[in-house]
Amino acid sequence: MRLPPALLACTLLLCPAAVLAADPAPAATALPGPIVITEQSFKCIRDMTPVRGFFVDNIAGNLEGTLAVANSPTGGVYPPGSVVQLFPNEVMVKREQGFNPVTRDWEFFELDVSKEGTTIRKRGFADVKNRFGGNCFACHVQAKPEWDMICEKDHGCEKLPISDFAVKSLQNADARCDNSETPFSQKATDWMIRVLTPL
Ligand code: HEC
Repeated sequence: MRLPPALLACTLLLCPAAVLAADPAPAATALPGPIVITEQSFKCIRDMTPVRGFFVDNIAGNLEGTLAVANSPTGGVYPPGSVVQLFPNEVMVKREQGFNPVTRDWEFFELDVSKEGTTIRKRGFADVKNRFGGNCFACHVQAKPEWDMICEKDHGCEKLPISDFAVKSLQNADARCDNSETPFSQKATDWMIRVLTPL
């Protein structure tokens, strides 16, 4: 009887090598390693890539994949490592596929930001609330499935009680950014809006 080559290799004590050789090649989308998110993963919101009103990044090096979904007119699933922000202190980061099926693998963060950098106040999945008691997941889950929990204006979520002008001012007032070029009058307006806005 003739032995199949893999079994033959095993009989010659080359089993691990034979099994490895039989493994299919890793998928092209495989990550180099687990996604590690620390305070250093976050930066001045305006140094991220703007998409309409919000900003994106990818801490796993796949900004192209993140932008492809963010700019798709029909939605899609954001790739692992995607970072999405509207406000300097609230962030969604896409974890590895299957990490948390309830939140479709999004991890929610509430940050403190200052000139010195970023501090993580809260992080987690369906249980994270912003500093006004609003549960991130409870709002973002209202987005229609094709938008992968991204709300924007018209994806089906309850609206935020804040104007686009105030959103822009909060983005401008991110203390981690180099604001040396910003005119004083704009800094004053941004500061006032930041102090008066409940977000
Ligand atoms: C009251 C509901 C509500 C709560 C609570 C809430 N969000 Fe949102 N979020 C929204 C809506 C609506 C938008 C879109 C606003 C717009 O584009 O005008 C948004 C925008 C965002 C965006 C930009 C991408 C997008 O979905 O449009 C991120 C990132 C985000 N929120 C993260 C968070 C995080 C993190 C928390 C918790 C710390 C949180 N949000 C809490 C409703 C909510």
